[in-house]
Amino acid sequence: MATRDIKGKTLLPVELFDELDPAPRLLMGPGPVDLYPRVLRAMSVPIQGQFDPQFTGYMNQTMALYRHVFRTTNEWTFLIDGSARAGIEACLVSLLAPGERMLVLNFGRFGHLLIEIGNRIGAEVVSIEAPWGTVFEPAAVEAAIAKHKPKVVATCQGDTSTTMLQPLAEIGPICRRHDALLYVDCTASLAGNPFETDAWQIDITSAGLQKCLSGPPGSAPITFNGRAADAINHRKHIEAGIKAPGMVEGNGPIIRSNYFDLAMLMDYWSPKRLNHHTEAASMLYAARECARVVLEEGIEAGVARHVEASAALRAGLEAMGLALYGDARHRMANVTGVYIPKEIKDGERVRGQMLEDFGIEIGTSFGPLVGKIWRIGTMGHVARMANVLRCLASFEAVLRRNGYAAPAGAGIDAAYKAYEAD
Ligand SMILES: Cc1ncc(COP(=O)(O)O)c(C=O)c1O
Repeated sequence: MATRDIKGKTLLPVELFDELDPAPRLLMGPGPVDLYPRVLRAMSVPIQGQFDPQFTGYMNQTMALYRHVFRTTNEWTFLIDGSARAGIEACLVSLLAPGERMLVLNFGRFGHLLIEIGNRIGAEVVSIEAPWGTVFEPAAVEAAIAKHKPKVVATCQGDTSTTMLQPLAEIGPICRRHDALLYVDCTASLAGNPFETDAWQIDITSAGLQKCLSGPPGSAPITFNGRAADAINHRKHIEAGIKAPGMVEGNGPIIRSNYFDLAMLMDYWSPKRLNHHTEAASMLYAARECARVVLEEGIEAGVARHVEASAALRAGLEAMGLALYGDARHRMANVTGVYIPKEIKDGERVRGQMLEDFGIEIGTSFGPLVGKIWRIGTMGHVARMANVLRCLASFEAVLRRNGYAAPAGAGIDAAYKAYEAD
């Protein structure tokens, strides 16, 4: 089709492409995963302006709902518009001025992301490293904090790249003892594994929707306490165009991002409603509905469903003669790493056939694990028996086509048994 300008001159041909019609998929990678149908529906309701009283009511409700999801009484609980790393970046850039020290507990790809973001901010980044497939002991963390005296200690709870879950209950109190702020990236673990913002003394944390919350990528729920808010407000600077007499600024160094400035975002999400960005209304509807679904099921029940699904999947994979990756004591309840057996020459071909022939997406791997493991997610809406069984049955067939013959039906039988044992 060609379009014309107002004088009738033919312009470049326009290719309109087809209407969107994505093939049905079962998303069993490390995220994103299938959306709760209610979340999809919530995204199709009409938007409103961000200062419409009904919409600010929805904003307040979203804050209230995420306090329960994060298990906190923190006033400052809201959304960052952007994918999960937008939440990470907002927390770190708002806390850390150039030259200030951050200690990263690095046990996978997303620990490296924390280091990368810290370096871009100009922070002085130091890290301790745990071999991939393991996590840190509290004593090692305490020794590093005592040595480096950081302003901020940053870690992932669950790092999807290694499928490991860092225990956190003891890390918060250690940070308090050494007067450091604790930041946790709980993107991949929230709502599928226990997470206790207040009880574990986590000062500031951020997530994303596209893992156990079963929403679309593009919104990052965060929460932070008074300690973190004080550190951030100390750096508060108000845009000249919206500054009014009587507004108080901090005297610390300015936060080096406008979009991710949590000091300004607190004013935007508070009754002051001081203008900042235009809220991503459809994403807020999605985030609000994700929280409603999760809380309606109950956090404990939801975590138990994740534990059950991953236990059944793991039982099935092991019955097929496959070896699981990583320290068994510290696996996340929502993603499983499985070694590619030596009989399989091309792990990517297996993933391709799972997708093309069965419509099931499973995950590849990063860094030192490339070509060594696949990662299979059982999270959010996907973490249920029918999907575990579909995945195992398809996997057995695809592995056989690629030269690895698992005992016929063993995976399915073991998964059934695991479910029946509950
Ligand atoms: C632990 C963790 N942190 C951060 C991210 C980054 O999320 P996003 O791609 O939404 O920015 C991911 C994504 O897989 C993750 O697993």
